[in-house]
Amino acid sequence: MAKKILKRSWAEPFKIKVVEPIKMTTRAVREKAIKEAAYNTFLLRSEDVYIDLLTDSGTNAMSDYQWAGMMIGDEAYAGSKNFYTLWNNVKKYYGMPYFVPTHQGRAAEHLVSKILIKPGDYIAGNMYFTTTRLHQELAGATFVDVIIDEAHNPQSQHPFKGNVDLKKLDKLVKEVGAKKIPYLSIAGPVNMAGGQPISMQNISELTEYCKKAGIKMWFDATRAVENAYFIKEREKGYAEKTIAQILKEMLVPFEGIWVSAKKDLMVNIGGILATRNKKFFAEAKNLCVVYEGLHTYGGLAGRDMEAMARGLEEMVEYDTIKARIGQVEYCGNKLKSYGIPIVEPIGGHAVFLDAKKFLSHLKQIEFPAQTLTAEIYVDSGVRGMERGIVSAGRNAKTGDHNYPKLELVRLTFPRRVYTQAHIDVTVESIAQVYEDRKKIRGLKMIYEPKYLRFFQGRFEKL
Ligand code: F0G
Repeated sequence: MAKKILKRSWAEPFKIKVVEPIKMTTRAVREKAIKEAAYNTFLLRSEDVYIDLLTDSGTNAMSDYQWAGMMIGDEAYAGSKNFYTLWNNVKKYYGMPYFVPTHQGRAAEHLVSKILIKPGDYIAGNMYFTTTRLHQELAGATFVDVIIDEAHNPQSQHPFKGNVDLKKLDKLVKEVGAKKIPYLSIAGPVNMAGGQPISMQNISELTEYCKKAGIKMWFDATRAVENAYFIKEREKGYAEKTIAQILKEMLVPFEGIWVSAKKDLMVNIGGILATRNKKFFAEAKNLCVVYEGLHTYGGLAGRDMEAMARGLEEMVEYDTIKARIGQVEYCGNKLKSYGIPIVEPIGGHAVFLDAKKFLSHLKQIEFPAQTLTAEIYVDSGVRGMERGIVSAGRNAKTGDHNYPKLELVRLTFPRRVYTQAHIDVTVESIAQVYEDRKKIRGLKMIYEPKYLRFFQGRFEKL
């Protein structure tokens, strides 16, 4: 008798054509490696890593269509054919008429900050991102977080924890005046909040507010496709729209976007700066020549621009984004089944472990998330990233540590790279560390670089 099928699974809309062997290591090797890396997973050699969940940035597997595009790279210094193909797709998918390529996302952030910010200005945003805020600060601005309170609470089930709290925004506008706020800095989803999306409704409310106040809006569209997917899944009225339609609609109110192409576009390098403002475009092209390269290559090879152009086409395919987020959800749900504390709802690009809860016997100044990241690596060779007090850096005015409410370990999924079995192994390792958590000692910082200290900071076991 045929069994009744209760649940139908989904699977990735691709098969594997090329494989890259990875090294299996012993615990003794990993203990030595993490000590040499001063308990900072950014300082490990990648060949000592088994499953690399450090980041989804530039670590994606390109499709055969993208690789084929690499072969038609036009490496002319000026006016490369691939630049025009990419520009057309930037118009088509983001709906922005003007475009400057950059070598990666932070280069676009640099240009936007330099062009729009004057010393003494304020930037309001839905939580900080490390490189974004740093460029805003280096241009002379003070960053003010106006995200809703729920975003700082790992347990809150709010479906759009990336939303802006309009009362917080209004308070800032009343305090400093709209003239001192050159633009509202919006990201969707919000990386540091756990990959949490912003809703279309919130974007509409912001648009109305900013129009009245005379404040421009800019969008960090690095993972905007994931945001569009969450809108389709969670927001009323969007279930029948395509990802491409939602993406474009989301960006209509914004004067411009910056994008790290190393994420949604499924390439290994690249960035995008695009705008509707012709005057801004002229200035951006001009500064591009100074910092990046001619405005038709912006620090990229022609072949990279072709891979980006093709990535733009692939990123809006529903089955592709569904499988990407489905894999992250699979990991998160499996961790939950072991009682491991994670940020909920499960985010778009990563699962975030709540290190404050996981290592509740450690004080925040003993760097619980940094510690946990190192412990997971030692257990299994799985590499995650700290997203807590180390990433939050110091207060630009007082010089004290920032003490963020969220003290997290990020397990980030490169697109189209790992299988479900890799996830099972990862979760089992974390479950083992969770079993043994009470024995874990914290860390102290022994070297602190001036900027973005999480990349190169060094630690010692307490
Ligand atoms: N904006 C967001 C939301 C990002 O996540 C990143 C990079 C950037 C901008 C900067 O782009 O790296 O190309 O210069 N995030 C990576 C990560 C590094 O691991 O989350 P980039």
